Amino acid sequence: MTGTTPLFELRDVCFDYDGIPALRKLSLEINRGERLSLLGANGSGKSTLLRLLDGLCSPSQGSLRFDGQQLTPQLLQRDNFALPFRRRVALVFQNPDVQLFNPTVFDEIAFAPLQLGWSKEQVVSRVEQTLEYMRLTTLSDRPPYRLSGGEKKRVALASVLVLDPEVLLLDEPTATLDPRSQSQIIDLIQDWKGSSKTVVSATHQLEIVEDIADRVIVLEDGNVAAMGSPAEILSNHELLLRANLVHSHRHSHNGVVHSHPHVHSHSKHEH
Ligand SMILES: Nc1ncnc2c1ncn2[C@@H]1O[C@H](COP(=O)(O)OP(=O)(O)OP(=O)(O)O)[C@@H](O)[C@H]1O
Ligand SMILES: [Mg+2]
Repeated sequence: MTGTTPLFELRDVCFDYDGIPALRKLSLEINRGERLSLLGANGSGKSTLLRLLDGLCSPSQGSLRFDGQQLTPQLLQRDNFALPFRRRVALVFQNPDVQLFNPTVFDEIAFAPLQLGWSKEQVVSRVEQTLEYMRLTTLSDRPPYRLSGGEKKRVALASVLVLDPEVLLLDEPTATLDPRSQSQIIDLIQDWKGSSKTVVSATHQLEIVEDIADRVIVLEDGNVAAMGSPAEILSNHELLLRANLVHSHRHSHNGVVHSHPHVHSHSKHEH
């Protein structure tokens, strides 16, 4: 389906982990080509929402539609739906350790293309291209579990970028990365501005939000607390304080301790 159907449509979605509520009647539409950021305190439901969008779990109540189709566990078990869905929608996990399981970095990145039945030549050439792009060529033969945290994160990202998916779900994509790798990920997401790619990223890094998103959603206790442009959300200090996205610094002036809101200054990355 195309046209005006939202890419994802969530209506009153609830999800709980064995009785622990994570999403509570959450309603949201995500459009094609949109770059959306999810902000929210620890435990507000960002990762859970991304897992639902990736079809890894299903709402306990409410409905979740992808491209007009209700994403049910039954549908996700059907190969003729699941294979194209997996090709179109990809999630990079917050913790790369749960994503990486192959004996080498090369195998890790080649895994999904091989599953999809690409020819050996096609796989090798695309994997080499992706390794180079992510500056991972020298790590190609290393076991992923013996890499640094940031290197693992880049391998996890490479393992989904290799398929060139239409929808990228990124959970804390720049956390733990060094400045050069961070700005590379930001550049990548910026390059997709105006393209047909949809990018949903959960982050705590307010200073990158304007670069990676056209729209921001603030989650609080498994629900949407606010929605707006990056400029609108980032200028709402009261909201950011309440949602635990900025902190109050305690200062001592002339022996009197008091606190005031603190936001890190927004600095554009340099090319
Ligand atoms: N595997 C799990 N088992 C039980 N409860 C879980 C599990 N994963 C998350 N939760 C709970 O679900 C709620 C939402 O968690 P979620 O991981 O979606 O939050 P988050 O916004 O991604 O947080 P963070 O910023 O720490 O990554 C929290 O209350 C959390 O304790
Ligand atoms: Mg999370």
